Amino acid sequence: MSKLDLFWNLEYEICFGIDIREKLQSFIENNYKYRKVIFITDETVSSLYSKFSEFNFLHQKKPYKYIIKAGETSKSISEYYKIIRFLASINADRHDLIIAFGGGVVGDLSGFVASTYMRGIDYIQVPTTLLSMVDSSIGSKTAINTEDGKNLIGTFYNPKAVFINLKFLDTLSDKEFRNGLVEVIKSAIIRDKELSDLLMSKNVYEKDILEIVIRKSISIKKKIVECDLKESGERQLLNFGHTIGHAIEKLSGFSVSHGYAVAIGMAMFSKAYYKLGVISKETYLQIINILKKYQLPVSCEYNEEQIYQEVLKDKKNNGDKINLVYPKEIGCAAIDCISRKDLKNIISVACR
Ligand SMILES: NC(=O)c1ccc[n+]([C@@H]2O[C@H](COP(=O)([O-])OP(=O)(O)OC[C@H]3O[C@@H](n4cnc5c(N)ncnc54)[C@H](O)[C@@H]3O)[C@@H](O)[C@H]2O)c1
Repeated sequence: MSKLDLFWNLEYEICFGIDIREKLQSFIENNYKYRKVIFITDETVSSLYSKFSEFNFLHQKKPYKYIIKAGETSKSISEYYKIIRFLASINADRHDLIIAFGGGVVGDLSGFVASTYMRGIDYIQVPTTLLSMVDSSIGSKTAINTEDGKNLIGTFYNPKAVFINLKFLDTLSDKEFRNGLVEVIKSAIIRDKELSDLLMSKNVYEKDILEIVIRKSISIKKKIVECDLKESGERQLLNFGHTIGHAIEKLSGFSVSHGYAVAIGMAMFSKAYYKLGVISKETYLQIINILKKYQLPVSCEYNEEQIYQEVLKDKKNNGDKINLVYPKEIGCAAIDCISRKDLKNIISVACR
């Protein structure tokens, strides 16, 4: 197994490879000597990987398993509360470990449970989607949703470690794969021209290329998060495409997936900044071409007023000002702090 050299100030390790068993075993049995182990997973992952050999060594511990329904609706207060009740029913305590085994939904929900149950118990992430490998498992954000918004309740809470095994991607649908690829493309556009060139010139569906691409993406996210754990500055760059993206997700009643909505958001803002003379045509076309290469959408059916009204509701707005991320050039993004009036104009240009 190869290991990324990813220790950061808050000290959790990200292990990356195709065989994570040895590392997992020494982590659970030797390093921390956990008593009980509780898996939180979803129905899909549970049925696909119920006999996952990397966890075999846990059989003596008779691990507990809590299975949620697959999908965003499980990131709810009611599901959160059910898990808390379950943990209490098995007398889980701070000597025990939660393993978040699944995509970003499982990771966000389990992380929130771990950060609040008994004022915090240990958890690790074993991400199984591309999105969760390159994005949601890195950076310590946990969350659940409410009727009023996505990720409205949450914490910053470190997992003890993240174990990434590319084997899980073999069963992931192409749609979910491309959903995660959007975050990879975003990282390339905001921070890494080399990664962008690689995505354009090579085929990411080839295993060795994919491995490089995932490593690079994790490394970009890690570096950005390290500088700005609580999203007051640099980390906002990771929101490129997300301002319009979140609006589109909501307008579609979440039928447009997060990744696809972010792809549209990146394309639309790039178009606006190009049309307004802020970025070059070349930069704009590079962004469109990379999204099109991976059959990602670059426009939507909603009009400027609908998008504007939705964007105004975004919890990341800063009073009357809105921070927008735009690509100055490939590999270098910047934050533009604008008024509502300018926002309206930008969205209007983006929709034309
Ligand atoms: N915490 C963060 O920093 C952060 C960052 C980005 C996104 N997120 C959150 O992540 C969530 C989205 O994550 P996601 O895209 O992983 O969605 P997801 O967890 O819903 O997984 C997508 C689908 O893939 C299935 N699946 C998971 N692993 C599989 C596998 N190996 N093979 C086959 N199917 C598999 C799941 O059952 C689900 O149906 C959102 O809730 C979003 O808010 C959090």
